[in-house]
Amino acid sequence: MASHSSGPTVSVAGKKHRFNVWRGDKEHGELVDYELTLSEGMVVLDAIHAIQATQAPELACRWNCKAGKCGSCSAEINGRPRLMCMTRMDQVIDEGATTVKPMKTFPLIKDLVTDVSFNYRMAKRIPAFAPKPKDERGEWKIYQYEVDRVQEFRKCIECFLCQNTCHVLRDHQEVGFAGPRWLVRAANLEMHPMDQADRIEVIKEDMGIGYCNINKCCTEVCPEGITITDNAIIPLKERVVDRAYDPLMAFWRSVTGTENK
Ligand code: SF4
Ligand code: F3S
Ligand code: FES
Repeated sequence: MASHSSGPTVSVAGKKHRFNVWRGDKEHGELVDYELTLSEGMVVLDAIHAIQATQAPELACRWNCKAGKCGSCSAEINGRPRLMCMTRMDQVIDEGATTVKPMKTFPLIKDLVTDVSFNYRMAKRIPAFAPKPKDERGEWKIYQYEVDRVQEFRKCIECFLCQNTCHVLRDHQEVGFAGPRWLVRAANLEMHPMDQADRIEVIKEDMGIGYCNINKCCTEVCPEGITITDNAIIPLKERVVDRAYDPLMAFWRSVTGTENK
């Protein structure tokens, strides 16, 4: 379910609305109350910018594109992990004062800005694309169904809302689970028809795929509508199980001397 704004807009122009915005740093912080008069077509990021412009010039938030494509403006809006730039005020105005908090899973830097460097460390664990040799005509032959299988994984904008939502990362980062975004990345590479690297051991040991109990919360919040659990994580779990525990696959590998990528 993509949470990008959709459906007909309802006019919010001229309406007064309250916002409770998290202000503070890693030592202390609190929700601060602001009131704004909304303008037509406003999204939550516009409201944050209006608060910055008129009431709190030092309010920190991260954003770049205001188009749902850079993945920078992730926050928790009325308790739901969402992109601020893709959450229209008419979608939340009936819920009372709008609460805007930083992502909870990552260490707070200031106000709505968190330190997401955990993700870059996890990214480094994944072996890079390792292309197969081209054919005698110097080409790669890829079938459309092979493109279709990985296409959705390439839509990831690295907003880290799935990482923020996953209860394993939220409560047990110390176990070493890489998280759904990086399992999407690993699936993208593992299912790439022209890739020949073998990442199964890395996915099992270094990325800790076994910690995922497929509760699908990550899929629910993905603004790109990527079917993270069903299309990326479960197929990777199946490959890990095949490798580790399937006696037929082990026999096949011993006969053919191949890995079952
Ligand atoms: Fe964001 Fe979806 Fe990518 Fe996760 S998989 S980082 S929710 S776009
Ligand atoms: Fe976490 Fe998604 Fe698995 S929320 S537990 S990675 S299905
Ligand atoms: Fe780029 Fe929101 S500002 S996704």
